[in-house]
Amino acid sequence: MPVIRFLREGCDVECYPGENLREVALREGIQLYGLKGTLGNCGGCGQCITCFVEVADGATASALSPRTAVEDQKLRRRPQGWRLACQALVQHSVVVLTRPQVGLPDKEARLAAALASPLPAGPTSWPAPPETEAEVEQEAGGEEASSAAEEGRL
Ligand code: FES
Repeated sequence: MPVIRFLREGCDVECYPGENLREVALREGIQLYGLKGTLGNCGGCGQCITCFVEVADGATASALSPRTAVEDQKLRRRPQGWRLACQALVQHSVVVLTRPQVGLPDKEARLAAALASPLPAGPTSWPAPPETEAEVEQEAGGEEASSAAEEGRL
């Protein structure tokens, strides 16, 4: 699975190829918005311009889907590496900086450290769904077993 390496937060998050960057960040509890966006955002419609992220390494810019027409319009006065998280789909592993407008004092050091350990490329398609009833039951049994194991740990 592609990995999103969040530079500011210092964490890696796995996602499926094609997932929306904003949705992955919110699901994982990443603070994507500044004060204005926290108080009110458009919910991912590309209208509020508060979900900025910076693709930290220019070489991985193709890891996200191409800029949309909305981004071309809304980001025309912003650096080229900036994206709206709600408009970007993750295609391959990528390093991103959330809230780039805030700045990050040790950004260069963090970026160097983040790029020092390579990101897995990840697959380019979703896993195939199970085809037979036996496979479905096998997967369900595996999930039950792992749930039971987790409960045992608690
Ligand atoms: S959430 Fe409003 S522009 Fe992305």
